[in-house]
Amino acid sequence: MFYAFIHTIHIYSVLIYGGFLFVDILFLSKIKQTLNEEEQIKAREAIMMHVRKVVPYALMVAVASGLYLFSQVFGEIGKDGMNSFQIALSIKAFLGLWLGFRGINQKFFGINPWLFKSHLFPFSLVIIIILLSQFIYL
Ligand code: HEM
Repeated sequence: MFYAFIHTIHIYSVLIYGGFLFVDILFLSKIKQTLNEEEQIKAREAIMMHVRKVVPYALMVAVASGLYLFSQVFGEIGKDGMNSFQIALSIKAFLGLWLGFRGINQKFFGINPWLFKSHLFPFSLVIIIILLSQFIYL
């Protein structure tokens, strides 16, 4: 029951975080087509000031809940090494932790590595993580 509760929180937090990246990459990036530079900065800031209050925390909840889920489902590593579920889950967890680490650095320490200048890279990672999440049980 508790696992199902945390699982639900994981999915909702991922939805909020991934949802913002989705909107940013697919739609907000298009404001360049209609607004001049000054208007773009204003329009983006009008949205980002609210995004900053929610999205980084959703990412932290996703990582914290993910760590709990991981601790519950990973299981023992057998004599022959990790099974395919454990390998896929490890890759997914690594990518999720990377996003989390980068998000915390950006939010609290203002560190923004070049690799993450645009949201395209985290967006791509989220797409890969979601795919992996669906294939871990195959
Ligand atoms: C932003 C990063 C993350 C995204 C986008 C993400 C996405 C997802 C999605 C879509 C699911 C599948 C839910 C379902 O189909 O039922 C899932 C499940 C899971 N996630 Fe994450 N996740 C993230 C971070 C993490 C982290 C950092 C960890 C662990 C350290 C983690 C561990 C897990 C585990 C163990 C499950 C399997 C739960 C189950 O099926 O019982 N996730 N995640």
